[in-house]
Amino acid sequence: MNSNASAALRPAGWSDGLAPNPLLTMREFFRRPQDVGSAFPASRRLVEAVLDAVDLSAARLVVEYGPGSGRFTRALLDRMPDDGHLVAIDTSPRFTRHLQRTIRDRRLHAVSDSAQQVAAILQGLRLKGVDLVVTGIPFSTIDPTVGAEIVSASAGLMNPQGQLIAYQMRDAVEPMLQQSFAQVERTRCWSNLPPCHIFRATGPRPGAS
Ligand SMILES: C[S@@+](CC[C@H](N)C(=O)[O-])C[C@H]1O[C@@H](n2cnc3c(N)ncnc32)[C@H](O)[C@@H]1O
Repeated sequence: MNSNASAALRPAGWSDGLAPNPLLTMREFFRRPQDVGSAFPASRRLVEAVLDAVDLSAARLVVEYGPGSGRFTRALLDRMPDDGHLVAIDTSPRFTRHLQRTIRDRRLHAVSDSAQQVAAILQGLRLKGVDLVVTGIPFSTIDPTVGAEIVSASAGLMNPQGQLIAYQMRDAVEPMLQQSFAQVERTRCWSNLPPCHIFRATGPRPGAS
């Protein structure tokens, strides 16, 4: 289906209109600045910089931590195959409700919880073998123990070819990634507000930390 069939499941105009929802992102940021990290949704350029580097055409299981109002979520679904699953986990039920309301796509599982619970969440959905994790969780402001647990749990749930991509304002996530993955590359995307580092970690080392 990729674009055509899934288009039938989406609300009209989703790609430019309904979402992402900048007001919702701003409101959530002012309610919980440490957890949300940025008052602005990811820019289209950032989404392209992150996802153009990955082949999602055969990705069966993608997990997104911190989808917010869903700019990455929509782009991921657009690039994933018909039989794929996208599990989008956010601590804010306001964000996950927004995703459930605005994205009608049977491949999407929007879950209100912490990414720390990813193993139990995937088990509950009877899904395994993660191909890709994409995350904008602000690892520089959340509890570092929680951050390290999220990274290590992710590596433990991946296929050997699995990878984790984190777009981040700061670089606190880098040592956590180095602990749980064999290779970590870093690039920069200047056309986002604020500019972001993009970390791409490959070679998951289950149980390394
Ligand atoms: C920078 S925002 C994400 C922006 C969004 N992906 C976009 O494209 O605009 C960070 C998100 O991480 C979520 N978050 C923070 N801590 C989390 C955790 N432990 N588990 C899951 N989501 C978390 C926040 O609620 C927020 O939605």
